[in-house]
Amino acid sequence: MKALEGVRVLDFTHVQSGPTCTQLMAWFGAEVIKVERPGVGDITRGQLRDLPDVDSLYFTMLNANKKSITLDTKNEGGKRVLERLVKSCDVLVENFAPGALDRMGFSWERIQELNPRMIYASVKGFGPGPYEDCKVYENVAQCTGGSASTTGFEDGPPLVTGAQIGDSGTGLHLALGIVTALFQREKSGRGQRVLAAMQDGVLNLARVKLRDQQRLAHGPLKEYPQYANGGFTDECPRAGNASGGGQPGWAVKTKGGGANDYIYVIIQPPGWAEYMKLCGRAELIDDPDWATPEARLHKLDKCFGIIEEWTKTKDKFEVMEILNKINIPCGPILSMKELAAEPSLRATGTIVEVDHPTRGKYLTVGNPIKLSDSPTDVERSPLLGEHTLEILSGVLDYSEEEIESIRQSGAVGKIAEPVAAE
Ligand code: COA
Repeated sequence: MKALEGVRVLDFTHVQSGPTCTQLMAWFGAEVIKVERPGVGDITRGQLRDLPDVDSLYFTMLNANKKSITLDTKNEGGKRVLERLVKSCDVLVENFAPGALDRMGFSWERIQELNPRMIYASVKGFGPGPYEDCKVYENVAQCTGGSASTTGFEDGPPLVTGAQIGDSGTGLHLALGIVTALFQREKSGRGQRVLAAMQDGVLNLARVKLRDQQRLAHGPLKEYPQYANGGFTDECPRAGNASGGGQPGWAVKTKGGGANDYIYVIIQPPGWAEYMKLCGRAELIDDPDWATPEARLHKLDKCFGIIEEWTKTKDKFEVMEILNKINIPCGPILSMKELAAEPSLRATGTIVEVDHPTRGKYLTVGNPIKLSDSPTDVERSPLLGEHTLEILSGVLDYSEEEIESIRQSGAVGKIAEPVAAE
């Protein structure tokens, strides 16, 4: 049995934020029915393609374990099918531009009328306020949620991060909101609205920077490079690779000189002596100018410079092995190529190889959340409209005649032929 078995999700999501949420729910066992526009589908099916005429990796890596029905929800027949779907699902998830579902005729009030137990969950760019009507993509959210202003080096431009904290991050927040609402429904019997705004989600992930903004009012941020180099304004600055926690850290070079020949090292107070022994600088262990965390604070660049002289003599994995043995926290900078080949991630199902009828084998990131009693089996993403017939008859109980009349109304487009068993 899977944790969310019996939960049926009407998945009106597209691009990345919403699909991240519904993919997680599918991995936990929910039946996720992805509603897509006939002939078009989720726009990402055709974006950033690596192979001609097959669903992109963008799509296949965000829509595992789902079913796809094509439905034109602006067609009168399509609206009636959608009503039936609303009545037979537990959760509706959407991340359209603000107001799109209302324009289709499916306001929250209407959805409650149709199904008072429905949980109606949305990702939007912004919460209520001056920007609530704006469309938003990943990097817009990283910029408006405080991440970009605090990422990068002090003398460079603001930077966005490769981790999709705006899209996937907000999808994760939404998933938690949905399961919490499902839990409350057990007692209240009622559905509710769940909103995760991307600006809020990014700010939540960047909360340590709002912490630092407030600390700044009471003096300089001693762990930031600006402490040694001089110069804070009244805004929380970019800290380069400085650690956001209480212990100093930095990415230092290792042997090889390649773009990812670096390791991130942290200096906890007990680690200083060990580092200095490794670096051949034992005289700095007890030297009052270097021995204490306070003494080192205004010259952290020099401390990491000494450590780097040693790390440059070893490759990043050798450094990791040596430091781990003496309990010093560190992490090599791993490239996507290295991660894709990492056997331990394959063994835990964090990276999974999936077979697909038109693209063949591809790698995807599996469920990063492991439940001991609800293991995840990652299944390929659906072809456009692959389950239209199955959902119309098996889930919505339409008769053959009714299905024929729905088809003729143009509501579902061309019904896909079933895919041969794999
Ligand atoms: N049948 C008929 N119409 C459909 C449909 C279907 N099955 N599915 C979608 N549509 C329509 C919508 O109703 C909408 O029509 P309308 O504008 O006439 O109301 C239209 O398709 C386009 O939807 P929209 O969401 O506006 O797409 P977009 O490509 O213009 O914008 C985003 C994309 C991501 C910018 C926007 O959806 C958005 O801001 N979403 C919220 C924030 C978010 O999740 N962003 C991150 C995405 S990873």
